[in-house]
Amino acid sequence: MIFDQLKPQIEKIVNNKSNALQLNDRLLLICELLEANVPHYNWVGFYFKNGNKNELKLGPYVGAPTEHTTIPFGKGICGQVALSNQNFVVPDVSAQDNYIACSITVKAEIVIPIFVNGKNIGQIDIDSNTPNPFTNEDERFLEFVCRKVACMLS
Ligand code: SME
Repeated sequence: MIFDQLKPQIEKIVNNKSNALQLNDRLLLICELLEANVPHYNWVGFYFKNGNKNELKLGPYVGAPTEHTTIPFGKGICGQVALSNQNFVVPDVSAQDNYIACSITVKAEIVIPIFVNGKNIGQIDIDSNTPNPFTNEDERFLEFVCRKVACMLS
């Protein structure tokens, strides 16, 4: 299973303290690893809470450029996860009322929150051009990724 092969590579990126890689470099490497190896991951990015503001700010990402670099809490799938602290799996984005479209090719989306010291500080956001592609395995794997990212941030 591809996720089992990717986990050690995620750990390598996270634990690699020997070189001058900055936090955003590591986050970008994680995006690149996921987008390149999981066929149904077509846009992979991180959003983080913007200081004290109730909004998310786009961090490193791979995929089509998006104009949604700032998302208010509550808006779109990402903004809802900022408030709910829950995974949000969207099998069909066209069925969502509160959705921010980035590209017409996107059919599905998954957003998993990142917790540092119990606080929701951001999220990984993945768009798929495949309808209904996400399973429990995606959720468990991405929760693993988010725990590793949280370690880097804490
Ligand atoms: N679709 C997201 C916006 C971010 S883009 O997918 C990059 C949302 O509804 O929050």
